Amino acid sequence: MAGKNGQKSKLYYEGVIMEPGQFLWVEKYRPRTVEDCVLPESVKKQFATFIKKGEVPNLLLSGTAGTGKTTLARALCESLGCDYIVINGSDEGRQIDTLRTKIRQFASAVSFEGKTKVVILDEADYMNRDSVQPALRGFIETFSENCRFIFTCNYANRLIDPLHSRTTVIDFKIAPSDRPVLASKFMERMKYILNTEGVQYNEKVLAELLMKHFPDYRRVLNELQRYSVSGVIDEGILSNFQEINAKQLLESLREKDWKKMRQWVANNVDTDPQGIFRQIYDILLPEVKSVPQVVLLIADYQYKAAFVADQEINLTACLTEIMANVEFK
Ligand SMILES: Nc1ncnc2c1ncn2[C@@H]1O[C@H](COP(=O)(O)OP(=O)(O)OP(=O)(O)O)[C@@H](O)[C@H]1O
Ligand SMILES: [Mg+2]
Repeated sequence: MAGKNGQKSKLYYEGVIMEPGQFLWVEKYRPRTVEDCVLPESVKKQFATFIKKGEVPNLLLSGTAGTGKTTLARALCESLGCDYIVINGSDEGRQIDTLRTKIRQFASAVSFEGKTKVVILDEADYMNRDSVQPALRGFIETFSENCRFIFTCNYANRLIDPLHSRTTVIDFKIAPSDRPVLASKFMERMKYILNTEGVQYNEKVLAELLMKHFPDYRRVLNELQRYSVSGVIDEGILSNFQEINAKQLLESLREKDWKKMRQWVANNVDTDPQGIFRQIYDILLPEVKSVPQVVLLIADYQYKAAFVADQEINLTACLTEIMANVEFK
């Protein structure tokens, strides 16, 4: 994730070598307005209403990775001309003292132009439930006069109830009926980006790439940028990529090659956690002797994926258990 590990300033980003002056597409093409975001109508309408009324309520934006939560929180603040700060819950937001000092300084400083102040607590599900989250509930009340809070998270169930009850919860989940419309809108965006960057493409390949990672738009753009290094996005690239994935996973499990399996996990852990278990299920079932055992195992780890702090450990644990206990045909 850009910025999360201070990676913005480095020359490497998720395997893409960034030439000086070259931009990450996810940042370069981050929508600046709510209107530019590809979102379900219901979500767009809610945000349009906030902008029309000129008000930011306390919000909790929840949904899977790369669907536009942080982008939208920023776009809302920009559109309304708010004074805002972004605090990352998986980083500085973990320490209650830093958080308290930062919020207090920001919230209590007078805004001369009378601008609304907003604290965006990004990735709030990483903040400690026993210390940091309960303190925040107090902050919301203390600073309610002149400051609003927007929380973003992947797993709303990791935030304590008092935070839910003090915020308007907006779910970025995409209903199956909305998928075709949103996918075709994002496809337009991909084409626009490729045209702007002067990269040739095959539309069918674009559609496949999009559907593979949908609705993780960050992942789609990163893959697109990675592939476009050669100047063209064509069928060769995509089929090659998918085959290697399934083949490497199966080989590592059959050969009980733990190192190879870890490598596969590292390459794939950015995929939406629920989706990756579905992919493993599809790849493994035709290959194993004990199907029910594998189904139960995968179901168990997919369930856990909604709660664990570290997806990589959960995924590795799942594959370790399969490697140790499952017989292949
Ligand atoms: N709805 C969207 N419309 C257009 N582009 C999007 C959308 N969502 C994400 N993107 C692209 O992906 C990038 C990352 O999005 P963003 O940081 O808002 O995701 P997020 O939902 O906050 O993810 P995470 O849960 O991992 O924090 C954006 O900079 C933008 O380029
Ligand atoms: Mg985010």
